[in-house]
Amino acid sequence: MNIKIAPSILSADFAKLGEEVALLERCGADLIHCDVMDGNFVPPITFGAQAVAAIRPYTKLPLDCHLMTLHPETHIEEFVKAGADIISVHVEACGKNLLPLLKKIQSFGIKACAVINPETAAEEFFPAMEIADMVLVMSVHPGWGGQRFIPETLEKIRTLRARAESIGRPDLDIEVDGGIGEGNVKEVIAAGANVIVAGSAIFSSPDKTATISRLRG
Ligand code: DX5
Ligand code: ZN
Repeated sequence: MNIKIAPSILSADFAKLGEEVALLERCGADLIHCDVMDGNFVPPITFGAQAVAAIRPYTKLPLDCHLMTLHPETHIEEFVKAGADIISVHVEACGKNLLPLLKKIQSFGIKACAVINPETAAEEFFPAMEIADMVLVMSVHPGWGGQRFIPETLEKIRTLRARAESIGRPDLDIEVDGGIGEGNVKEVIAAGANVIVAGSAIFSSPDKTATISRLRG
């Protein structure tokens, strides 16, 4: 499968986010991963739709907006207006509303992605895999960059890739987020992921072009 690299701007310099996303595009990124945190679903607060709108003119790359918020349904339209190309919502925040919300996101002509936390069983995700444009597997507890990759995630990725194949969606994008760097990306891809989020690994690198290309394998 085509491997895509999605740098997380959580590790960027927030004083110059526009320049940072333009640089990531020049360095070969495929998506810009925007970690939106509300101080409730996860303890920290990062940024919202206004910041996404502000960086929109600086890149042509798809903006992959990962909503770590309660009541994500109340925020969809503002992120669509801000220029999001993908909106990801957590199964843990949506409960039974997950499928209708994915359809609502798609109704705006953008991609809908469902996200699952490390402690949530893969099976809870199966219904969303029927309709989502992408699924996102958290490989750390959401909230902070720079954490260690949780190794049990690999088995979950294998389960989800096998499920995608068994429902006739072998090419479903499976994104993995948290603790990924050059030391473990191969295992993550071998397990069945094809969209790789990386924050600290890319922003701590003096040569982002080389790091992105090595992450792609
Ligand atoms: C965690 C975020 C991740 C994180 C990735 O809540 O969703 O996107 O910033 O950062 P690294 O690659 O540093 O783990
Ligand atoms: Zn994220």
